[in-house]
Amino acid sequence: MVKPRASGPVSPYLMPGFYDRALAEGRHRDIVGGRWEETGEAQMRLLIEAGLQPGHRVLDIGAGSLRLGCLLVPWLEAGNYWATDLSGALMRRGWEEELADKSRLPLHHLVEDGDFAFPGLPDDFDLAICFAVFTHLPPGMTEAALARIGARFPRLKRLLFTVFQAPEGVESLRQRDGVVTHASRPPWHVPPAQVAAMARAAGFDARPLDTRLPRGQVLWLAEPASLPPQMP
Ligand SMILES: C[S@@+](CC[C@H](N)C(=O)[O-])C[C@H]1O[C@@H](n2cnc3c(N)ncnc32)[C@H](O)[C@@H]1O
Repeated sequence: MVKPRASGPVSPYLMPGFYDRALAEGRHRDIVGGRWEETGEAQMRLLIEAGLQPGHRVLDIGAGSLRLGCLLVPWLEAGNYWATDLSGALMRRGWEEELADKSRLPLHHLVEDGDFAFPGLPDDFDLAICFAVFTHLPPGMTEAALARIGARFPRLKRLLFTVFQAPEGVESLRQRDGVVTHASRPPWHVPPAQVAAMARAAGFDARPLDTRLPRGQVLWLAEPASLPPQMP
């Protein structure tokens, strides 16, 4: 697990027994924030706008219970979707409960990984998405995660990720949908200039997109700094 710089509670996902309890209660949709259809469909739209093609290979980082995966797996050519998450059990519950045609997603494509090391994954993804994950991590962990993504997947054409934003020096901020975010505890926000700098340090040119997202998150599009844009 990537070690946070801040002390105190970093993320609700790190509370002991969190996943076991929620899964025992059948709450695999709630664990990822509910708003199931709306948020899955929003992610599909974002990927298609970013140039997604059925033949692309896609990595869903922090995929949860496959809120996106249950829509994306049937859309992609079979075998082209891979996912990671801090909880392997959560992804497998999504596979069991939410995926219509299980033959299109081998279970070994769901990789438990809490520190963005991506063990056993191929390195030839076209697109990656990390949706509503960095909102749960302090900026130091987001920075480390971006660096690991950049180093591990040098052939990635586009990475989409979301953050909560706030101006430099603001401790707490009520976001557009009402959620209050913080600089020093979850849910975490980060100044936009810092997001761009962290992405640049990881080898990406990144910019925020003007897309309205659930809970007031901001969508960022990152492309390898060394390559010209390759997809419309
Ligand atoms: C709000 S949910 C979003 C899930 C999914 N991206 C979606 O939009 O449906 C946040 C997810 O991040 C995962 N997560 C939290 N910390 C993580 C870490 N350090 N590494 C990988 N995944 C993490 C949680 O298990 C959870 O599934």
